[in-house]
Amino acid sequence: MFAEALISIVSRLAPLGAGGGGFWLPAQASELAKEVDSDWALVYWLSAFFFALITFLLVFFSLRYRSRPGHKEEQTASHNTPLEVVWSVIPTFLVVILFWNSYTTFLQMVTPPAGAYEVLVTGQKWNWLFTYPNGYIDADLHVPAETPVTLVMTSEDVIHAFYVPELRVKRDVMPGRYSKVWFSATQLGEYDIFCAEYCGTSHSEMLSKLVVHEPADYEAWLEEASDFLSRMPPAEAGEMLYEQRGCKQCHSVDGSAGIAPTFLGLFGTEEQLADGSRILVDENYVRESIYDPMSRVTAGYDPVMPTYRGRLKDEEATAIIEYIKTLRQ
Ligand code: CUA
Repeated sequence: MFAEALISIVSRLAPLGAGGGGFWLPAQASELAKEVDSDWALVYWLSAFFFALITFLLVFFSLRYRSRPGHKEEQTASHNTPLEVVWSVIPTFLVVILFWNSYTTFLQMVTPPAGAYEVLVTGQKWNWLFTYPNGYIDADLHVPAETPVTLVMTSEDVIHAFYVPELRVKRDVMPGRYSKVWFSATQLGEYDIFCAEYCGTSHSEMLSKLVVHEPADYEAWLEEASDFLSRMPPAEAGEMLYEQRGCKQCHSVDGSAGIAPTFLGLFGTEEQLADGSRILVDENYVRESIYDPMSRVTAGYDPVMPTYRGRLKDEEATAIIEYIKTLRQ
């Protein structure tokens, strides 16, 4: 009874490889997660064993050799060759085993299989963009299950880090170069994507979703999602782009002040610019602000917006303008 309870508590604290996460670790949603967790469990159990052994010996020796009346101090041993060999050779084997386990997992982690499905990832302040092989861009990462997926990642501005705990995947995303990760998702469902590198004001809100689809449904999803401009009225497509492409991180639509001017009641008004002049917010000014955001910055805001040149098609910019028009007061 007691033994059973103990085993159940202990197995929750440190799953031995297989299983789904546990007390310390999130659920396992990739092949790699099992490898990482069994390496982790080995370190955990070794540490637990030696912690128990050392604590026991500490208490035992403190009691056994404590100073007390009638107990004479004995000469301390200076040297014990067999003992020293034992405590040198065993730990040496242990660290070699730990190294070997981690190294083989690491090699697996950094070697994408040939022919993996490729998605381009762009990190920018403060959102993620995922570009699929057909050119469609989404704010969430959709992948088919049981399929190796390689992410080719780069940043528009500062260093970000792509992190999905359930996949046990975390990699820096840097401007001016590409980094890669790969994984094969084993569990259908939705998982959080985080940025794990402090990248400025809204770092903690740099969140996206990973959606793992049934492999048979994936192509249908991609086709449907890619076709959004012909499916939706422009203002509705614009709202979706506003949510997905990072406008939302800085421009509110409820009038609240943020890093950038709110879109509520913006269209058709006159704005004061940083250089003191005034400008009418019309289609042309919004379009210019999307593609060339530094040219005419609104007074009172820092020039921090990235350009969307090459990342928003003309029809998409038009859809966003149509959406901003619906927010007139
Ligand atoms: Cu991007 Cu933190």
